[in-house]
Amino acid sequence: MIQALRHEDQILIEKVVEFNQAQIFDWWAELPDSSKQNLLDQVRLIDFKQVQYFQELLNNQSTHNAPIHMEPAEYIALPENESSEAARKEAMVIGEDAIRNGRTGVFTVAGGQGTRLGFDGPKGSFPCSPVTKKSLFELQAERILAIQKAYGVIIPWYLMTSPTNDAATRSFFSQHLYFGLNPKDVLFPCQRMLPTLDDNGKLILDAKDHIAVSPNGHGGTFLAMQDGGVLEDADRRGVDILSYYQVDNILIRVIDPVFVGFHLNMGAGMSSKMIKKNDPQEKVGHFGLIDNHLHVVEYSDMTEADMEARNPDDSLKYEAGSIGIHLINTGFVREQFRDGLKLPFHIAHKKIPILQKDGRISNPDIPNGYKFEMFVFDALADTKESVILEIRREKEFSPIKNREESDSPQTAKQDLNNYFGSWLEASGYTVPRDSESNVQCDIEVHPLYACTQDEFVQKVPKHMELTKQMVFHPDSD
Ligand code: UTP
Repeated sequence: MIQALRHEDQILIEKVVEFNQAQIFDWWAELPDSSKQNLLDQVRLIDFKQVQYFQELLNNQSTHNAPIHMEPAEYIALPENESSEAARKEAMVIGEDAIRNGRTGVFTVAGGQGTRLGFDGPKGSFPCSPVTKKSLFELQAERILAIQKAYGVIIPWYLMTSPTNDAATRSFFSQHLYFGLNPKDVLFPCQRMLPTLDDNGKLILDAKDHIAVSPNGHGGTFLAMQDGGVLEDADRRGVDILSYYQVDNILIRVIDPVFVGFHLNMGAGMSSKMIKKNDPQEKVGHFGLIDNHLHVVEYSDMTEADMEARNPDDSLKYEAGSIGIHLINTGFVREQFRDGLKLPFHIAHKKIPILQKDGRISNPDIPNGYKFEMFVFDALADTKESVILEIRREKEFSPIKNREESDSPQTAKQDLNNYFGSWLEASGYTVPRDSESNVQCDIEVHPLYACTQDEFVQKVPKHMELTKQMVFHPDSD
């Protein structure tokens, strides 16, 4: 029997044994006291009933994998004619009013591990702008500054980190003097971690005195808001609408007045932006109704027939792809906790570094364990009213996920160049493009120079020589 000095520690150890997880004490005998304490401190935080529940989820995985049947969800389509254009203009007025009145804040999820990108540091600190290599954080900070200036208001920025990158994120902001934002207006709510399990449902050690854990998913947002005092801070400021997005989208509009306007008009609790799928097999989550509740269903949970299904006009039946952009009311967040948070857990089979019997850490080549995550969009099922707004992919969505090929730094850079290239074209310039219509020069426009294409067209010199690399900065006025 493993012995601890303190009675309370002994009780903890017995609990671990009772839950059949005694393997986490395999190295106990050779651990110095400080390491023993580290391990026990971690064990104290683990909810073993929850671990048991995760084991059940693993055991029932095959029944969970049954394809899901749903109905397509309605959405506000891109304007095709003047009347739908007018609806957007009306929404814009309402949304701008809300922003001007200080009702909006930004909530960014940046607690992920960014394993596919494989960058050493928080993904938000990844240098990605085409010319000056600004980080994602800096690009977003500039956009927030521009909104603050345009509407004469303070926009608080709630940036969710996880224990894996919290310290590095905070120090990146300090080093860069918060990119000109007031540190009082930037909060770093930190999400919680959950234990990982091996194929047999056992807790995994990734050091002799440490159990492998991973962030609890972007659905950890709700708990992080509660833990990190976001709701109190928002209340104090009079903020009741949070503009939620994922840190890795280089084209993100940090707050969109049109979206805010539609959301308010509808009296929605949580709303979403969507794009039409590029092709039937595109790997995005799909908006759909299941028993009249709104859901985002993973492509892997859909039948092949549903993925390919067409309407009589040949458009895809399930065309609405989710892109991780939402508006969430603080009141809706509070409702999530009314009867205890009920977001489901999703299982991901992943490669988890593991301590071997010989005491060395091995990094597996194939998935060897399970992570458990909550997804923020599962809260949509609790909305009574919810807007789904279609947007143009080329204007608002280009994520950095992979090291190469699709959704990579290269595609993000190209998408930003294409976006600003179209502004130059709208200003009357002929911008070099290749056979795939990709802009062939690097362009950056600081949002304090111009936030919109219209502003840019007004401001940009009428006769200017285009060069291979161009930066439009407020100081270059
Ligand atoms: P992804 O699922 O794309 O994960 O997260 P990731 O961490 O960026 O990258 P991989 O999968 O390890 O390669 C989408 C967004 O949700 C955030 C991420 O930071 C990203 O902005 N996220 C994800 C969290 O904030 N916490 C999590 O636990 C998971």
